[in-house]
Amino acid sequence: MSAKSIRHNLYDIYRKGKPKEMYKEIDLDQIDVNREPPAEEPARQYYFMKAAKAYVRQISGRKGSPLTFHVSTFGCQMNARDSEKLTGILKEIGYLPTDTEDADFVIYNTCTVRENANNKVYGRLGCLNGFQKKNPFMMIGLCGCMMQEPAVVEKIRKSYRFVDLIFGTHNLYKFAELITAALESRFLSGTQKKGDSMIVDIWEGTDKIVEDLPNQRKYPFKSGVNIMFGCNNFCSYCIVPYVRGRERSREPEDIIREIKTLAAEGVVEVMLLGQNVNSYGKQLERPISFAQLLQKVEQIPGIERIRFMTSHPKDLSEELIETMKNSSKICRHLHLPLQSGSSAILKQMNRNYTKEQYLKLVDKLRAAIPDIAVTTDIIVGFPGETEADFEETMDVVRRVEFDSAFTFLYSKRTGTPAASMENQVPEEVVKQRFDRLLKEVQEIAAKKAMRYQGSVQKVLIEQINEQDASLVTGRMSGNSVVHLPGTEDMIGTIVDVYLAECKGFYYIGEVR
Ligand code: SAH
Ligand code: SF4
Ligand code: F3S
Repeated sequence: MSAKSIRHNLYDIYRKGKPKEMYKEIDLDQIDVNREPPAEEPARQYYFMKAAKAYVRQISGRKGSPLTFHVSTFGCQMNARDSEKLTGILKEIGYLPTDTEDADFVIYNTCTVRENANNKVYGRLGCLNGFQKKNPFMMIGLCGCMMQEPAVVEKIRKSYRFVDLIFGTHNLYKFAELITAALESRFLSGTQKKGDSMIVDIWEGTDKIVEDLPNQRKYPFKSGVNIMFGCNNFCSYCIVPYVRGRERSREPEDIIREIKTLAAEGVVEVMLLGQNVNSYGKQLERPISFAQLLQKVEQIPGIERIRFMTSHPKDLSEELIETMKNSSKICRHLHLPLQSGSSAILKQMNRNYTKEQYLKLVDKLRAAIPDIAVTTDIIVGFPGETEADFEETMDVVRRVEFDSAFTFLYSKRTGTPAASMENQVPEEVVKQRFDRLLKEVQEIAAKKAMRYQGSVQKVLIEQINEQDASLVTGRMSGNSVVHLPGTEDMIGTIVDVYLAECKGFYYIGEVR
């Protein structure tokens, strides 16, 4: 099969909406290695890494310099972790990292949770085209949640024909295989790049989890760890279940093995990642609760801090609160998205808790762990939100006194139930409520932060301060940011810091 037919087959998969089975039938034996690619993962991807490496060597010979890459990440921590997997593979096949998007391979790992996330990508693609016109070796890839939307892929195929490779969230593990096909199609098929040489491979879903692929962590001392993928909650405003598929948990043994390896490599803090970590493990053949998983992670020597994201209030168990309380490693921070303080709106959002249940949960949590920092996400202007509903949200904000809150303007996501609700709130009203909420949230956060001023707290030093190289920046257990005089060798260590001054959202401190 020629490179051209490979890419046409890949496109067919998307156009016909065929699931993964069809992909397996594709014969990639034109690729220049001496044996058939193995069928099993991850062996198959290592085979393609080898093939891609040979191509990269060949192409950089033609160019006369090493090939460079840049991965740009949009969206949440899940995407950030996925980008580390892309980076791991690009390094493995011989690309060198560079800080700019003027590189030989640029990939955008996209987010589509709100409309403005999409607009950012379209805006920046224009700039990439400029780079590509100057650099005939430059390839452009797009992946992530936005690519799971058929309308997006159609638009890119029509209006952004210079893109080389598009894939989605379900087949990210095939990156080595896909980049091999893209390199071949672009540089080794003997034809010049044309507008139709784009490779598109999008799956509608998968139940597969592939372990043991390379990844390159952004930080040597801390790491995200996926514990589950997808989401089954279908909050009525949210696109994530459509673009990330159904909930699947990794086996606890695989998670523990990964964290032990991380610890051996010097990682001291892990962030366990899932859209709803509180439902982790329920569907495994041998079910296990999230709290039980945490207890296992707690026992791993070398790991000093454990964080997790995100907790859905409806599934937060007593067992989890007890586990946090008894732990010396789980950080004193819980991100507990509220979304709205109105029980009527929460019902429309399909969140499965009421205002009262949320407030009670926070009370229970603070009774058990008094020093815990509670943060949240709030959406303003969900369809049908009245002034009274909005005041309910303000009421919860004042009563709970969140340590910080991410506030979002409601964004209509095509295909979600809320998008077709008739009573959409006018833009000016939403904007005005948003500003009121933001002011309240910020005032409370600044007041709450004052409580640590003058105390000594443990801080994990993360980096040299971006503005002032004589300072280092770190985080407290509750996730607050601290700047203090320090040096590079402190990065990755946990130190006692006197918090001399609270500046609202951060502290200025000194080592004790
Ligand atoms: N799984 C996490 C959230 C993932 S999305 C959870 O359930 O908490 C992160 C945040 O984006 C959400 O908490 C929500 O506040 C916000 N969000 C999701 N869809 C949105 C939309 N359509 N408009 C505005 N904000 C949205
Ligand atoms: Fe979206 Fe709700 Fe799932 Fe969070 S829990 S990802 S808000 S559907
Ligand atoms: Fe965005 Fe996908 Fe995360 S839509 S918020 S990157 S799961």
